[in-house]
Amino acid sequence: MTVPVDGDNLLMNRNRSPHPSPARPADVPPLVVTADDDLLASLLPLAAAADVAPTIARDPRSALTTWTRAPVVLVGADLATAMARVAPELRARSYVVTDVRPPDQLFRTALDLGAESVIELPGSADWLVELLADLTERHPERAHVIGVIGGTGGAGATTFACALGQWAARSGDAVVVDCDPQGPGLDRMLGLERSEGFRWDALCRTTGRLSARSLREALPRRGTLGVLSWYVDGRPQTLQAFAVREALSAARRGHRVVVVDLPRSPDPLVDEVAARCDQLVVVTVGSVVGVAGAARMRARFADHADPGVVLRGEAFAAGEVARAVGLPVRAQMRDQRGLAEAVDLGFGPLRSLRGPLARAAARVLEAPLAEAAA
Ligand SMILES: Nc1ncnc2c1ncn2[C@@H]1O[C@H](COP(=O)(O)OP(=O)(O)O)[C@@H](O)[C@H]1O
Ligand SMILES: [Mg+2]
Repeated sequence: MTVPVDGDNLLMNRNRSPHPSPARPADVPPLVVTADDDLLASLLPLAAAADVAPTIARDPRSALTTWTRAPVVLVGADLATAMARVAPELRARSYVVTDVRPPDQLFRTALDLGAESVIELPGSADWLVELLADLTERHPERAHVIGVIGGTGGAGATTFACALGQWAARSGDAVVVDCDPQGPGLDRMLGLERSEGFRWDALCRTTGRLSARSLREALPRRGTLGVLSWYVDGRPQTLQAFAVREALSAARRGHRVVVVDLPRSPDPLVDEVAARCDQLVVVTVGSVVGVAGAARMRARFADHADPGVVLRGEAFAAGEVARAVGLPVRAQMRDQRGLAEAVDLGFGPLRSLRGPLARAAARVLEAPLAEAAA
């Protein structure tokens, strides 16, 4: 088991980054500090499984050479006290590792070192492999995450979320994450319902850390577009906080763009996910009801850093809607002809790259994709 040193939730704990490591070349290997050959014999196969070759320091002084530059530091329980004594710089992603039951004192020492947690082997072997596997990730920069929510039911939020994913996938890895258990199933919308791969139910059964690569490779996908969807079997399903956090974190590390389809129902977990999105899109129809619904969303997400509206239909002018809702209108689109047919045929909503849906998706993604390409 992996025991967080401050008793906090492991996920939260891991995200804690009191002293973010300075920018470092991607080719600095992880650092293992131990003189314990048995521990090393447990650790090296895990590093090999993750496809990384760590630097090994057999004493604290030689560890200092790459202490701050290594992307991850694993300090063996045998040298933890000695390491703490040389007072290395506090850094994120350092861990104390042991292959025996840790004495209570070890947690104190881990705290002194500023380690994020004490990793116990062999129990946490999988967790550690996933942590190390992320070091070989080809998307070291985090993805742009877009949350999509409807102003009213049937506004076209799910359709637009899929369209964003399809557009983004034209220029890099993208994933659409279905956070609406009551929705139609994003895999079906994208013609991937028959594809093998992880759905939420499988993710809810996994425990611990998921590397970006594991998630990306486990999801149903077509080309560069992956989908995290519900396994629709008629049973009521709900979002599980730990699975959502873990999935989003891995998705963000493994893709260039992450699109999250958010349900409108009030749920603190949905609000949390929305808060983690870089950009929030409220899809709304141009009608009195649609505008009122979008205004409610503006109030609900009043603190969000970058909310905006995508307006469907031409009954109202964008400027009028922007004023009434109190949010900028990022795009306005006519109804997409042949949408139902495109979805039925398994092409997803974005069958044509020139229709109104594609143009609106391109607008919304213009800035983030330009930034990612820069
Ligand atoms: N851009 C669009 N053009 C035409 N019809 C659309 C568009 N977006 C959604 N629809 C239609 O509206 C209905 C609801 O769409 P959906 O995306 O599921 O909405 P929401 O997720 O907001 O409830 C669907 O029947 C869909 O075909
Ligand atoms: Mg929906």
